[in-house]
Amino acid sequence: MDEPLPVEHVPVLTEPLLKLIHIPTDGIMVDATVGHGGHSQLFGRTLGPEGFLLGLDVDKNSIQRAHSTLSDLACKVMLLRENFVRMNEVLSQQGIDKVDFILADLGFCSGQLEDSDRGLSFQKPMPLDMRLDDRLTTTAADLVNKLSQKDLADLIYEYGQDRASRRIARFIVQQRSAQKFTTTTELAMLIARAMRRPGRPPRIHPATRTFQALRIAVNRELDSLDTLLETAPNMLKPGGFIAIISFHSLEDGRVKRNFRQNKADGLYDILTKKPITADREEIMRNPRARSAKLRIAKCL
Ligand SMILES: C[S@@+](CC[C@H](N)C(=O)[O-])C[C@H]1O[C@@H](n2cnc3c(N)ncnc32)[C@H](O)[C@@H]1O
Repeated sequence: MDEPLPVEHVPVLTEPLLKLIHIPTDGIMVDATVGHGGHSQLFGRTLGPEGFLLGLDVDKNSIQRAHSTLSDLACKVMLLRENFVRMNEVLSQQGIDKVDFILADLGFCSGQLEDSDRGLSFQKPMPLDMRLDDRLTTTAADLVNKLSQKDLADLIYEYGQDRASRRIARFIVQQRSAQKFTTTTELAMLIARAMRRPGRPPRIHPATRTFQALRIAVNRELDSLDTLLETAPNMLKPGGFIAIISFHSLEDGRVKRNFRQNKADGLYDILTKKPITADREEIMRNPRARSAKLRIAKCL
């Protein structure tokens, strides 16, 4: 049988990014989440042979995909399997002091959602893993099968913002005493059972928020974002840009507060008073853009 074609990842909010961000042709850009290289390709095309594009990603498959997307750029391209929390060290290792543009398009690529080993989706049975970086040692199954009921409820509440967190945690702990969870669909079906309300079809699948919470915890997503936001002003040239695309309010709230604080400290000018979101046409073309929020600041 033929191998299925790899899923294409369509980069979001490219128009406002290209409109608001201009880097010199000999500039340095860091794509903190290079993914399939879609955003990098667009900005890379604006760089000349003196320009430098550094792409980071924790997922070796993303790095591989980005290599092929970015192979024909004129600028120098370096792609490294690194977490963006290490951006400062990586730049020092390359002898780079400051850069013109840092982009972070948070979360995961469409291909990662479909990846049957990754366990990010409950549309079909996948191992309950959720690690974007397979060098991490804790999987979603470890959390679901080992955390105390209270810690599980707190995690679902804090990272999933699910008011039913205590009920969901109680059902999980009851179920796992009979049999440990191994697949995404086992967990999703249990949560659907816990949340069943006769005659009231839910707006989203009842497991959506718990899955978000587990993914955030497994990949330490909020801690990584905090580190990036804290260290960014030291890595940007005066006039350099930082753009963050986030996909849920826990991320966007952090970006908003950080940019405002840096503005108050005289470090940033904020170019997006409100976050930029996708228009109807982009959402029709790319449903993933629906929840994307873009904030941009310029370093003073
Ligand atoms: C939404 S995709 C980026 C897509 C990319 N902008 C494009 O146009 O193809 C997010 C990527 O960030 C990676 N990622 C998530 N957290 C990361 C982190 N802390 N450090 C580095 N890469 C990360 C994921 O593995 C994924 O490939």
